[in-house]
Amino acid sequence: MSPHRPILAPSVLAGNHASLGKALETAVAAGAQWLHLDIMDGHFVPNLSFGPQTVADLRKLNAEIFLDTHLMLANPDKHIEAFAAAGSNNITIHVEPNYDVIGTLERIAQLGCQRGLALNPGTPAEAALPFIESVDLILVMTVWPGFGGRNFITETLEKMRIFDLWRTERNLPFRLEVDGGIDASTAPACLSAGVDTLVAGTAFFKASSPQVFLRQMEGEAGRQ
Ligand code: DX5
Ligand code: ZN
Repeated sequence: MSPHRPILAPSVLAGNHASLGKALETAVAAGAQWLHLDIMDGHFVPNLSFGPQTVADLRKLNAEIFLDTHLMLANPDKHIEAFAAAGSNNITIHVEPNYDVIGTLERIAQLGCQRGLALNPGTPAEAALPFIESVDLILVMTVWPGFGGRNFITETLEKMRIFDLWRTERNLPFRLEVDGGIDASTAPACLSAGVDTLVAGTAFFKASSPQVFLRQMEGEAGRQ
């Protein structure tokens, strides 16, 4: 069971990339407090998305929204300063690539950002164990990253439960986030597994009413 207020973070990857400012406006109009920004390098994941300048321009449009920046990069340690300077509030790095994870988490905190650590579906929860006292957020990927609109991988539910148990047993403060294939049919099981932060791109931007969808997700979470 999470100690945190439930949050839906719309992922602008599913928005129109010729005008991501409109995706931001849609999220804000729907009542979103967070915005999820997927940064892809074409190496760690087989897709390219956008960089720090886009984040900085989105921040210029809205000073309040919490920018939840998800770095899907082979060498995230080389880009922390740029995304912090662009206005990120949280910077999430993946545990899989070969770099100084703990040193990078420390730098993220020194730059005034919250620290997130992400695990791909095939990565066991134990890979994050050395770092769980040094993060503000754990991101359990529920699809293989790189593209929106992929199907939710149900085997990841067990990993959510493990993190929720560790958080409770050790009285840790991190948020537990899921990302990929999250919609009205997959969110309830995640929330029951202890998740409190839901990323949704396709389901949010394709919803007939993004506001109704957001309220359902955050309200649903409140009832767990
Ligand atoms: C996938 C990204 C997700 C994606 C959301 O690599 O990390 O954030 O944009 O996926 P859907 O569209 O399934 O919600
Ligand atoms: Zn993401």
